[in-house]
Order: sequence, then structure tokens, then C-alpha cells
Amino acid sequence: MPAATSRAEVPNDLAAFWMPFTPNRAFKKRPRLIARSKDMHYYTPEGREILDATAALWCCNAGHNRATIVRAIQEQAAELDFSPTFQFAHPKAFALSARIAALAPGDLDHVFFCNSGSEAADTALKIALAFHNVTGNASRQRLIGRERGYHGVGFGGISVGGMVNNRKFFGTLLAGADHLPSTYDRERQAFTKGEPEYGAHFADELEKLVALHDSSTIAAVIVEPMAGSTGVLPPPKGYLKRLREICDKYGILLIFDEVITGFGRLGFAFAAERYGVIPDMITFAKGVTSGTVPMGGVIVRKHIHDAFMKGPDHAIELFHGYTYSGHPLACAAALATLDVYRDEKLFERVAELEPKWCDALMSLKGLPNVVDIRCVGLTGAIDLAAIPGSAGLRGYKALEHSFHEEGIMLRLSGDTIELTPPFIISENQIGEIVDKVGRSIKAVA
Ligand SMILES: Cc1ncc(COP(=O)(O)O)c(C=O)c1O
Repeated sequence: MPAATSRAEVPNDLAAFWMPFTPNRAFKKRPRLIARSKDMHYYTPEGREILDATAALWCCNAGHNRATIVRAIQEQAAELDFSPTFQFAHPKAFALSARIAALAPGDLDHVFFCNSGSEAADTALKIALAFHNVTGNASRQRLIGRERGYHGVGFGGISVGGMVNNRKFFGTLLAGADHLPSTYDRERQAFTKGEPEYGAHFADELEKLVALHDSSTIAAVIVEPMAGSTGVLPPPKGYLKRLREICDKYGILLIFDEVITGFGRLGFAFAAERYGVIPDMITFAKGVTSGTVPMGGVIVRKHIHDAFMKGPDHAIELFHGYTYSGHPLACAAALATLDVYRDEKLFERVAELEPKWCDALMSLKGLPNVVDIRCVGLTGAIDLAAIPGSAGLRGYKALEHSFHEEGIMLRLSGDTIELTPPFIISENQIGEIVDKVGRSIKAVA
């Protein structure tokens, strides 16, 4: 356990840090500072214990400051701080690629590394465009995402993404992007545990986009198997299979953005496995290192990778990469993280906990302003009715109350509370989350 009572240094000037995705002025009036972490908890600089109900940003799946992961990072820093992976490489990048490829279903056999989910989404979109180029289909340039989708904050990701605030300030974005409709219909799906029965037909909207643009212009469809950041929208039963079939019919690549769902969040290494659908590419980040060192990547099917492996041997096959692709610290952290997932059977644990987790969350139905609750794997979301004329305020007040009064970290998307704890959560701690969230919801009634 960390020395929870010792005081860490508290910065006395919060002005210089322009915080991402944060209402800076509200935060700086009443900061929520974190100084240390261990297992299921954070600790404030004053030593107050905060239950982590969000695995930070859906990434610390193995819990915090796990000894073997910490040691692997420390040892790696002492042995090899950095080496390039352009034209040179270090052994752990290969070892990790093989481990990830072995976890991925089907012939998703090749791994391209980057440093974040945003880079992973942009990398996958670029590989899709380049694949069609090198296979003689250069007219396939359109990229299709989905309303309410989140694929990070790069220009590629926000172009195919479907969250209006992430798009509307940033110009015209990539040309040629289009969107499938969201799969959410509250009237028919509210308070469903897991995947809703209603909504597979939303995949058929891809047929309409093909009719509008012609398949010869469409490169790829990218979707999150479970739309996370927008507020946990599990896919309707059969939806992803149908999307796969339509993509196959028209030669369109299918990309699953598994930045949240990858590495166990839905009880399987990848959501692709849960849903029995093999996409052409899977993006990942977050859980691959349990959030300890930034890392992302794209897992690519064999035929896509192989299509690039032509021309003279000395020629670069794909003009893409990041200085820190496959950074040694990230690789060491990821290898140690995958060991923890395997040795502690954490993906299986998620599958075991899912029914209890869902039942516990659904017990909040009936509290004031709760208009929907959704859950799948070890994720959940609670939609609160907005205060008229002040969208997001009720959610923000709940976040403040929960941190300062209840000692719990939640995640918000507008007035939706998102809950995605580390996989090491105990059943008692599930109860604790529900109690604390319930009191926070009542406090903002
Ligand atoms: C599905 C998905 N894709 C991409 C991203 C972006 O990841 P990052 O913030 O690491 O760039 C996220 C982040 O939450 C995500 O949920």
C-alpha cells in the first residue's frame, strides 16, 4: 500500500496546464488531484482514498501499480531506454507483436505499433487507403464511420467519428467521410442488459451508402464494436455480423476500433471474438499496457499485410510510422501486462463478473432522473436526464459530488455516467460503486 497519509507536493499554481477534455475553469476552482495509486484505488495528495470505477480512462485494466509491470518498466529503462524501429529494432517489439497476434482471432497476424488510440485509428485508415492503392483500387477513398462513434482526435479519427463537439470546431475535416446511423434507440432498448435484441437492421444502412457513393469509391468502414466514449452502446444482436457480410459483398474493409474493448473489457481478448466476427483490422491502445506507458497499434489480416510485401527488397513498403512506434518501455510494460492478464485469468474474470455487474448497475433503475442504464462486459453507463437548458451540468455535479463526498472516480459523457472498473474489482467493490453512484445521483436530483 502507498503511504496514503503522507502529503505529496501539491502544485500551488494550476494556471499553466491547459487540461484536455476538461472544463478548465470549473476544475481549477475545485480541483480533483490525484497523487498515487495502488490496485483499485487512487489517493489524493492529502491521502484520501478514491475508488477507481473507470480504470482511469478505460485503460488500467489490471489495476494500478502492479508490481510485475512496475518492475518490467524499471528494468527496461535501465537496460535499453530507447531504440528506433525505423530500419533497426529491439527484440521485445517482435516478442510483443507475436503475443498480440496470437491473442487476436483468425489471420489477424501482423501488428503495426503507434502510441495512442488516435494514432491507431489514423494508422488503420491510412493502411486501408494504401491497401486499395497497392491492389489497383485507388478509387476506393471514402471512409465510413458511425454517428456517435469515437476514434480519437486526429483528423482521420474525427472525420469518421460521430461526436459533434469533437468535429464542429475543426473545419471541413477529411473529404469523403460518411457515417452510418447510431445503433441506439432508447424507446426500444432502454434498460437492456448486454446486447439489445433490436437494431441489427441499422447495419443495412451501409447498403444505402453503397447505393449513394458506389462501392468502387469506398475504402473502409470503421466502428467500435461497443461504442464506448459516447456512453456504452453495446451492439444490437447480429449487427456486427451483418456489417461484415455487407462489407464482404462490396469489397469494403471492416475496421474494429477496439481501443476500449481490446484486452478483455468484454470478457474476451477482443470484442471480435465475443461477436464471432473477424474484421480486417483491429485498433488497440489503453489496456495493452494497462495504461502504464502510452502504446497503441493496429492488428492487420495477413492478406492486407502481404499485399504490401512486393517490389524490391530494399524498398520501404509503407511510408508510415512514429518515432516511438514499439517504444521499448511500452513493449516491456505490455509484455508484463499480458502476463498478468494470463496468469490471473482476468479476461475470464470479466466474463464471470458480467452478470453480477449488470444486475448491480440495473438496481439503480428508478433513482431520480435515471432514463437508461446499459452494460456489457465490465462496462456500464447511466443516462441522467439533463437539467433543462444546461446540458451536462447534472453530470458534472454528480462527478464533483462523487469525488469529493463519496471518494470515487467516475467518467462522464455529458449527462451520462460511465463505469468501467479495473478487472481486479471484488464483488464487494461492485456494491461499493453502486452505493456511491446511487448517492451521487440522489445528490444531484
Ligand atoms: C474507441 C476509441 N478509439 C480511439 C480512442 C483515442 O485514444 P487516445 O486517447 O489514446 O488517442 C479512444 C479513447 O477513448 C477510444 O475509445
